[in-house]
Amino acid sequence: MMESVESTKPPASAPASTPAPAPALTPFPQDRTCPYHPPTGYAPLREAGPLTRVSLFDGRSVWLVTGHEAARVLLADPRLSSDRQSEDFPAPTERFARVRDRSVALLGVDDPRHNVQRRMLIPSFSVKRVAALRPRIQETVDRLLDAMEEQGPPAELVGAFALPVPSMVICALLGVPYADHDFFEEQSRRLLRGPGAQNSEAARDELAAYFHELIERKRRDPGDGLLDELIHRQLAAGAVDRDELVSLATILLVAGHETTANMISLGTFTLLQHPERLAELRPGPGGAGPTLMPAVIEELLRYLSIADGMLRVVREDIEIAGSTLRAGEGVIFSTSLINRDDAAYENPEELDWHRTTRHHLAFGFGIHQCLGQNLARAELEIALWSLFERLPGLRLAVPADEIPFKPGDTLQGMLELPVTW
Ligand code: HEM
Repeated sequence: MMESVESTKPPASAPASTPAPAPALTPFPQDRTCPYHPPTGYAPLREAGPLTRVSLFDGRSVWLVTGHEAARVLLADPRLSSDRQSEDFPAPTERFARVRDRSVALLGVDDPRHNVQRRMLIPSFSVKRVAALRPRIQETVDRLLDAMEEQGPPAELVGAFALPVPSMVICALLGVPYADHDFFEEQSRRLLRGPGAQNSEAARDELAAYFHELIERKRRDPGDGLLDELIHRQLAAGAVDRDELVSLATILLVAGHETTANMISLGTFTLLQHPERLAELRPGPGGAGPTLMPAVIEELLRYLSIADGMLRVVREDIEIAGSTLRAGEGVIFSTSLINRDDAAYENPEELDWHRTTRHHLAFGFGIHQCLGQNLARAELEIALWSLFERLPGLRLAVPADEIPFKPGDTLQGMLELPVTW
């Protein structure tokens, strides 16, 4: 069942006797005006919260959740579904609509199948496993910083550091050859940012073909990554089929590098734009050292909210905060507004890692809460600490307003980050 399509545009001219058209809904998503603040065009949504209506690119109107408390309640409610193949599932962009009919492991699956898939992976992303990976992450970060120092200054930080750190780490964890990184980084870029909806479809097909072939190679010649483990245990035992395994591998690879890369680039930019805060992290007098990093990373996750729009469809009617969400309606969670809800955070607009209230929703909440969050935290702590420790004079190489950042309909982050030191 598709909701009635609402136009966001009032008619050009209306006769005096006809009633005034209903006010147009705010469109979602919108581009950020500053890369680390929610779009200024979201201001009315914030005031209308904790739940309000927005219009999508195709004219459909859906619920937008902006309140922290409402978001936690709804994200834990099994009456909301993540089934992306449902025809009522909201598509925030044309690109997304084009690939919606394909099954997406984990993120696009409800329990009980979701639980089966997730349980296969949980041990590989536990606190203990990630702690054991830290020396390897540090080594990767150090090697990339060595190369930057040899070749610079200046440097383009996204290509030299922010992207290769998580790409190398997820490749090692999965057992995907890093030598293929140009290929899969390009496909992820096409999948998530286009240009054009057709490009996303083609990128998904290319990634699937790549993983089908890699799985075949690994079946004959096993390695020691997570993918090998899944092939030789779960696939061999019939617990997953090949298409499901390909979908799992794709989501782990794409989610495992794009997100963290954006946090490193946007986190660096944001810290450089807050010199009074950054002073606390610089080595020397007044510097607090790496023990501060966990709090810094949590606050950056809240403040930047790079995954700004979690998607669900209502399976059964839900009453919440005086509204009724009807079966078949789309629901989007605006992480950037939820994480700056002033009912949950004091001075939410301030970047302040000494605040005591955490519980941000940058990694989501409920059964789909980010599987890779321990890994992401470790990578971010090591990458950002080492970057500022090794290059204490790090600064932007061009004026901040000349640096391009990603459009609002994708994961937020910097397209490029020219730096010097
Ligand atoms: C700072 C970096 C990251 C951010 C901000 C982030 C954010 C998120 C968010 C918001 C969700 C929930 C989506 C929803 O409920 O609709 C999610 C889920 C997920 N993330 Fe992350 N993520 C990050 C890093 C990673 C990494 C490094 C991996 C590694 C593989 C990863 C793998 C996943 C997976 C597999 C899911 C789906 C979990 C499920 O449906 O059960 N993420 N992530």
